[in-house]
Amino acid sequence: MKSYIDLIQQTFEFPTMEFHVNEDNELLFNNVPLMDIIEEHGTPLKLNYLPKIGEHIENARMFFRNSIKRFNYKGNYTYCYCTKSSHFSFILEEALKHNIHLETSSSFDVPIIRELYRRGKISKSTFILANGFKRPLYTQYLSELINEGFNAIPILDNLKEIEAYENSTTAESVSFGIRIATDEEPNFAFYTSRLGIRYNDVNQLYKEKIESNPRFKLKMLHFFINSGIKDSAYYWSELTRFMFKYCEMQKMCPDLDSIDIGGGLPIQTSLQAGFDYQQMIDEIIENIQWICNKNNVPVPHIFTEFGSYTVGESGAVIYKVIDKKLQNDKELWYMIDGSFITQLPDSWGMNQKYIMLPINNWDNPYQKVNLGGLTCDSQDFYNSEMHSSDLYMPIIGDDETQYIGFFHTGAYQESLGGYGGIQHCLIPAPKHVLVDRDPEGQITTRVFANEQDSESMLRILGFRDESYVQPLPPADDDDNETSTEDKNGKSKNGVSEAIAPSKPKPAKKTEETELAGAKN
Ligand SMILES: Cc1ncc(COP(=O)(O)O)c(C=O)c1O
Repeated sequence: MKSYIDLIQQTFEFPTMEFHVNEDNELLFNNVPLMDIIEEHGTPLKLNYLPKIGEHIENARMFFRNSIKRFNYKGNYTYCYCTKSSHFSFILEEALKHNIHLETSSSFDVPIIRELYRRGKISKSTFILANGFKRPLYTQYLSELINEGFNAIPILDNLKEIEAYENSTTAESVSFGIRIATDEEPNFAFYTSRLGIRYNDVNQLYKEKIESNPRFKLKMLHFFINSGIKDSAYYWSELTRFMFKYCEMQKMCPDLDSIDIGGGLPIQTSLQAGFDYQQMIDEIIENIQWICNKNNVPVPHIFTEFGSYTVGESGAVIYKVIDKKLQNDKELWYMIDGSFITQLPDSWGMNQKYIMLPINNWDNPYQKVNLGGLTCDSQDFYNSEMHSSDLYMPIIGDDETQYIGFFHTGAYQESLGGYGGIQHCLIPAPKHVLVDRDPEGQITTRVFANEQDSESMLRILGFRDESYVQPLPPADDDDNETSTEDKNGKSKNGVSEAIAPSKPKPAKKTEETELAGAKN
């Protein structure tokens, strides 16, 4: 019978630049021998291969550079990283080594921005493109950044947002972007996106609120296609419509010189042949230029905010098969020591596929299996791939151990599934290791987090006197995002609470807590 490696070699061009198998029939990911990492750290294990982040940033820059040169495009290109894809310090710090700019989506991003500034990782000239439907604390924080000279640009998401900056900004010049609400893909539940401002309202917003204010400037129009950049009639028609709007606005607004085309550069979710990124970017640049020329408008500078593309392919999760269960004549389960629902929530919530490969036993024959997670939820399984409705794994004897890797999992999984919190069936967050290379190219590893322990769960669940959940003082309105702050986003002593470390408040000593304490 053929071995697993035969199956892969007859299905794909294998090995690839990223994956190959050594003489022990074990998988290497970016030349990192994964069995060595498993032997050192065990499973389940999350890992990030950090050099991938810079590689992708530089690749995207190269694609834009090539296109700009090819079409003699007169605008420039700026790479921003969309922080919501992964907020971890090690991701941001790695990305920022490549001189990038940032896109934010929440008031809670701003303390991160300030911390990065404090650590010298960004400067005041770093673009902070602030997206999202903004509550008062977010606009307040943005105004503070602007007043202090940071290059923060609120991207207006609704008609009222601009009013928040009228009194709270004191800077001589405040630049804005406007996010334009795109139409959704034809098969989506809604016709027009709820995010951004509808096309028909953009002119009035500009005329009444920006043009009329001598301190305010419209610098950028923003659009984001949720389903990503792809060669579809839908994508091109939305980009065209957006560019015609840009040209119309540019003629009445001389400060407008940039567009942000959002995120959505796709990543590999299977070993099948990759995307022709250069061609995608060429087409974008060519289209933008063609529409501007047709309208006699100078081409805009282009910003992107790639999230998945920056960080997705750096991530992997490794599991061990802890049991084989044959539940009827043909349904064989490989039970893993983790959970898809909690650790790879996109695989459960949106049927997202990842590159999935065994780590060892590539010379064993293979069989069709279903992978089962540890929670009690019947949906906690993974049994098909991007290229196939079946999933195959090496056949293992009772004395053999099988490890399985899911690759390109670096974006959104922690933001959606949570990290170190309370999850389904109390499945703990796995150990998390960062893999890097030293200046000589040697592999280095460092533990970012050990596997979550039960003590942290007990604290979150309120089984400890020093509760994780802080008692809330009575709210005076429902606009504050944190009730420790007054309406200006300041604590009583004038320091932004989100920047100052929050001290746990001692639990009120009541008869109940004393009793609970005595029991513990
Ligand atoms: C406004 C905005 N920009 C950028 C992104 C990043 O998209 P991606 O991760 O597909 O690159 C998102 C993702 O939701 C977004 O909402």
